[in-house]
Amino acid sequence: METNMIKAAQAITQSRLTVALTGAGISVESGIPPFRGPGSLWEKIDPTEFAHIDAFMKNPARVWEVLMGAMKEILDTARPNKGHLALAELERRGLLSAVITQNVDSLHQKAGSEDVIEFHGTFATLVCMECGSATPSADIRLNALPPRCPCGGIYRPDCVFFGEAIPMDALERSREFASQCEVMLVVGTSAMVQPAAMMPVLAKQNGATVIEINPTPTPLTTGTSDIFLKGNAGPILTRLTEAIPIPARG
Ligand code: APR
Repeated sequence: METNMIKAAQAITQSRLTVALTGAGISVESGIPPFRGPGSLWEKIDPTEFAHIDAFMKNPARVWEVLMGAMKEILDTARPNKGHLALAELERRGLLSAVITQNVDSLHQKAGSEDVIEFHGTFATLVCMECGSATPSADIRLNALPPRCPCGGIYRPDCVFFGEAIPMDALERSREFASQCEVMLVVGTSAMVQPAAMMPVLAKQNGATVIEINPTPTPLTTGTSDIFLKGNAGPILTRLTEAIPIPARG
């Protein structure tokens, strides 16, 4: 077994508080494209035109048509992969306290993770911009755009558009975990978007060991990450979980 994998397994075994920060990369093996890089969503769709709150407020039908229609189709059918399942297992074994995710796909919860902080909200719920009522997005058909609430108001997804603030509870809990954790597992994020990308830096500043999993180095790799495990989240997290011995009962 490679040295870095052994070091990572030891760090997690000895840690009293481990949290994970995940990005779009962990869901790539579930068929959801990343936002950046070859074949990514933002290569096809301009985020300033379709993922900023001003664009949505100006023309919700167009944003629904171009961006969210495409996302809804993928998210309605996506299933958790081995990477999500491995994190859920680490939580079940008492080795992982929470997952801070930038993803809006609910795949961590579908994999069985219990404490999931949705840093950028979720696409699983739509909220009426008139009456504020919420409804599962899976129940909404996109035959007329923008989709409307029975009150006549326009539905928006309960996720964070560019130009919007991070939900306060998610931000506060994430900051707390980042400043108290002994290990932070950073999986499948390009670390380009703030304030999420700040969390590993905060953890490092507070003495935590940062373990990064990504097929490609990121701005965190030199200077913040202590251990870089190069590769895809599914196989790497599966091997990491297997490398952590299960304590003998009794
Ligand atoms: N396993 C692990 N990492 C992977 C995999 C994989 N199978 N495939 C790709 N990656 C890595 C890429 O190398 C890249 O570093 O995942 C990262 C994905 O980066 P982004 O697409 O930029 O996603 P993310 O970091 O989550 O973006 C942050 O930006 O657009 C906004 O709101 C959106 O939450 C998103 C935020």
